[in-house]
Amino acid sequence: MVKILSICGSTREASLNQKLLNVIQECAGSISGLQVESYSGIAALPIFNQDLEGDKTPPQVLEFCAAVESSDGLLIASPEYVRAIPGGLKNAIDWLVSREEIVAKPIALVHASYRGNDMLSSLRLVLATVSERFTEEIFLCIPLQSSDTVTEGSIAENRQNVSQINEFLIQYQSYIARAASPTVS
Ligand SMILES: Cc1cc2nc3c(=O)[nH]c(=O)nc-3n(C[C@H](O)[C@H](O)[C@H](O)COP(=O)(O)O)c2cc1C
Repeated sequence: MVKILSICGSTREASLNQKLLNVIQECAGSISGLQVESYSGIAALPIFNQDLEGDKTPPQVLEFCAAVESSDGLLIASPEYVRAIPGGLKNAIDWLVSREEIVAKPIALVHASYRGNDMLSSLRLVLATVSERFTEEIFLCIPLQSSDTVTEGSIAENRQNVSQINEFLIQYQSYIARAASPTVS
């Protein structure tokens, strides 16, 4: 079983990125050997402080790191805030930087907007720095129009969305499986 942990850079209740991740989680349920779980604790992580690493690492951070460690790969979806990575997501990544959990972790991005290219460039640079298995090639963009009418149901009723999501998931599942056994070509 390949276990993917999804992380959303937006913490608002009606987040389009979270809705897209929820649909991805649902689609993964129909793919054999694949499971997506959502991490929703970003807002509860304290601000990164080097003095709090090691023995003093806060419990919420330890919980987050354990969730990352027990996953086979990460899936990140994030909005752009003021041309950049949202502070909460960057803070979560900062906590991982000097730890072991992130170094060989496969990571892929999904994106729910037509815009946000500055954030994507910056996030790609950050993720390629922290993980040797961040893949830029496996990327899913489902541009959603910001509106109250967007729901998981409306995203999933579009066949093209579901087909793109399934194709992306199968590609990423295979990438993770190859990463886990690098001698298999
Ligand atoms: C404070 C703030 C700053 C934003 N800055 C940008 C930006 O620089 N570029 C952009 O494309 N969208 C920007 N947006 C729009 C968000 O990216 C957009 O609303 C997105 O849907 C939010 O993601 P969510 O629905 O997952 O919460 C900004 C929104 C907020 C609230």
